[in-house]
Amino acid sequence: MSGVGRRTFLKATAAAGAATTAVSGTAHASSAPVFEHGVASGDPLPDGVLLWTRVVTTAPVRWEVARDATFTRVVARGRTTTGAHRDHTVKVEVSGLRPATHYYYRFTTADVVSPVGRTKTAPRPSDDCGSLRFGVVSCSNWIAGHFAAYGYLASRDDLDAVIHLGDYVYEYFEPGVRVTEPQRECETVDDYRTRHAQYKTDPHLRALHAAHPVIATWDDHESAENSSAIGSPVHDPATEGPWAIRLAAATQAYFEWMPVREGKLTRRLQFGRLADLTMLDLRSYRTDTTILGTAQRNWLASSLTDGCVRWKLVGNSVMLAPLKIPPLPGLPPTNTDQWDGFPADRDHVLRALDRAGMKNAVFLTGDIHSSWAIDVPFGETTVATEFVSTSVTSDNFDERIGVPPRTASLQIEAQFRALNPHVKFVELDSHGAQVLTVTPEQVQMDWHYVADKRDPNTATTKAHSWRTQHNMAQVEQVL
Ligand SMILES: [Fe+2]
Repeated sequence: MSGVGRRTFLKATAAAGAATTAVSGTAHASSAPVFEHGVASGDPLPDGVLLWTRVVTTAPVRWEVARDATFTRVVARGRTTTGAHRDHTVKVEVSGLRPATHYYYRFTTADVVSPVGRTKTAPRPSDDCGSLRFGVVSCSNWIAGHFAAYGYLASRDDLDAVIHLGDYVYEYFEPGVRVTEPQRECETVDDYRTRHAQYKTDPHLRALHAAHPVIATWDDHESAENSSAIGSPVHDPATEGPWAIRLAAATQAYFEWMPVREGKLTRRLQFGRLADLTMLDLRSYRTDTTILGTAQRNWLASSLTDGCVRWKLVGNSVMLAPLKIPPLPGLPPTNTDQWDGFPADRDHVLRALDRAGMKNAVFLTGDIHSSWAIDVPFGETTVATEFVSTSVTSDNFDERIGVPPRTASLQIEAQFRALNPHVKFVELDSHGAQVLTVTPEQVQMDWHYVADKRDPNTATTKAHSWRTQHNMAQVEQVL
């Protein structure tokens, strides 16, 4: 987006926000609707995008999509309704748009106008786009700090979309920098709805959603710690009821509150001939013996080897590569919540890559609140690249053991690299957001770290860059 375009957008957003505030100011007295959770868009296609908002109203909700932030060139409009059955969330599937184009959108109900959002459609499958750029994030825990890393991505003009790898909300209740609502662990659909609602009042998260389309999958904490289709170690059916009911409640709230198409999180989005993005759901089909389930496993293996695009990006909530953990108090030698707990599924997928002779898959991973660049091994060779996003705020190594950053972690990082020669980079202490740049020649991950997650206005600095060249599956540092 041009500088002029962005200034116009910011001005229009401010104006819309002022309009909303002005109306809601009078209206708190007369119960006029308020767009207090902002607006969002998601899962861009070449000709459309999903729009989201929430507003408590019985009136129709009108929506508009325009080429400009002041809505002088409206290209699509319509109306819909919402209600308590979906917690007053609104989703609109817009089609008929042009590929690889920025659009602006807003909602109106009962003369109240929402903030303005900006989104972008994907390139056509046949397009030779020269480059793509994505924000990559995971693990934003309200109690652990402020979401300044989201604010950093919101301030960038050069992102095609933001990929969220899970732990968008955390279900538990603990003391911290900020207090969650509800002030208890989430168990019911109302609990999960309340938690999602609170997160979407965060100004940095609202800014992120208003600035870019988000492509999200979930991990465990959108339901409960280390969850699967059959349970969670923190869920006790004897006192908390059947797991299936709690999982259904968490799933319902997620689909209501997130800008994703409803029904299934496993999906593939294409961005011209340069890349496609396969989003995995590693929780809904997980049992004691599979992380993917048979259908998702077979689909992933064929999706990664169909040869349609130059790069195969994968949104993968937990670490794919095998990982030996150094002897540390309270930690097992492997983390079986990761793919390490499901070697048969991993072998199936990596063998498919090996047989196809393809090394162009790049797994984008969250979950472990730290930064990694890895050559994914299979037998004597490497078959893929894995870049692990650090957390927006969730506690990481130094915080968990109670030492200053960049002290004890340095030795542990060296131990990780020694035990796991395929791990080329690991940083255990910092929080932030990542930017992934895709060109025909290479895919590069930049880790941007925040100085102090307890400070909502903290500075963000680019700290590390690693890349993989096409069909090499060998990461290298970019200095
Ligand atoms: Fe997490």
